[in-house]
Amino acid sequence: MQLYTVTGGAALGGRLRAPAAKNSVLPLLAATLLCDAPCTLRGVPRLADVDTSLRLLGAVGAAAGWEGEDIATRPAPALCGDIPPELAGAMRSSVFYLAPLLYRCGRVTLPLPGGCKLGPRPVDIHLAGLAAMGARVELAGDTVTLCCRGPLRGADITLRLPSVGATLTLMMAACRAAGTTVLRGAACEPEIGDTADFLNAAGADVRGAGTPVIVVYGKAALGGAVYAPMPDRIAAATYAAAAAAAGGQVTVEGCRPQHLAAFLQLLRAAGCAVEAGPDALTVARDPARPLRGGQEVCTAAYPGFATDTAPLAAAVLLTAQGPSRIYDALFENRFACAAGFAAMGARVGAKGRLLWLGGGGALHGAAVTAPDLRGGAALAVAALAAQGTTCIRDPGYIRRGYAALHADLAALGAACACTEADAAPAGAQNRPN
Ligand code: UD1
Repeated sequence: MQLYTVTGGAALGGRLRAPAAKNSVLPLLAATLLCDAPCTLRGVPRLADVDTSLRLLGAVGAAAGWEGEDIATRPAPALCGDIPPELAGAMRSSVFYLAPLLYRCGRVTLPLPGGCKLGPRPVDIHLAGLAAMGARVELAGDTVTLCCRGPLRGADITLRLPSVGATLTLMMAACRAAGTTVLRGAACEPEIGDTADFLNAAGADVRGAGTPVIVVYGKAALGGAVYAPMPDRIAAATYAAAAAAAGGQVTVEGCRPQHLAAFLQLLRAAGCAVEAGPDALTVARDPARPLRGGQEVCTAAYPGFATDTAPLAAAVLLTAQGPSRIYDALFENRFACAAGFAAMGARVGAKGRLLWLGGGGALHGAAVTAPDLRGGAALAVAALAAQGTTCIRDPGYIRRGYAALHADLAALGAACACTEADAAPAGAQNRPN
């Protein structure tokens, strides 16, 4: 277990570079299995979920590994379609391997990622779409098996709701299907366009990714690609939130501020100065002046307010003047971090999808536990605004999305460190989120 210590009360200052996006890198690693030639992903952050993905690739017989900061893959002669339960259960993104392994092996077995700390996360939209393309779907207990004889068929599919993961699954499947696939009601998150750009660089023909209607012309052969995944908009939002919570001035370079417009709009409304260019953003706040509360936030699919940034927004608004409310429309249990905020002296109440923030008052250091990835990062951000030292016990969530969050915050001048502690707190489990 890792233990983060954050001593708050000091303003931040400095510049950071956004890493490559976790939510692009994870589907891209799976998508390399669709390619018939070597691929290289440039500048991949060393996240726990990337390690898990490499172990999964190795377990099914694929050749993939680090080359410095990059990950290189080579087509393997034979792959196995059985995804080991311990890897399937270790991350939700194991679902991205359904379509590529079905294509390569004609059969894939995945112990379902199931529910997780954010609430139930079904995969029915992935499965319904693959079935429409000709896959036979069998569910036995918690395990799904997909089979197909020969390639999948292109189909006209309307998604029940704009699921990011299902859009990626069906886009990947369609690249190697026979004929044309139309996905209607697709998710529009930027990572979908990024995955399409990678696939197109390898010779696929995906059009309209990033809009609600995606058309994919299936290909009998794909080459390889050397590709730099897009910058991580949630990591950029985390550094912006750190500046807003602690005060000071932080510049995030190599990011795309237009990808976090809704989050930046909230920071402005709360009283931060935000300068957003095409590939950099600066957030400044006078630490002597409290932020403005009275904010009402509701998460939504892109380009709405990203659910992953909701806990970060909460951390910023904890000490604002006046109450605020945040509603998460996507996940049932997004605000498990509220217990940690309360331990730090914040006036908060979480009821289902709604988080109420009383605002005002001062935060103090406390011993808290990271409940999930973004909730853990939000506790670190809140701790920057607290007097004294906060210890965040983390059973492994934060490193799933940040290679070294403590080092990033320390580079901005925060008193922040990470050590390995031997015992996990009672009740903590390393479950997907
Ligand atoms: C992705 C992101 C995650 C982000 C989420 C929403 C990755 C690796 N993860 O997760 O960080 O929080 O998008 O922006 O990209 N749903 C179904 N049936 C399905 C699929 C989804 O009911 O078959 C529901 C989910 O339960 C959830 C909603 O749709 O309520 C959105 O989920 P989805 O967009 O699929 O999120 P993920 O792809 O899992």
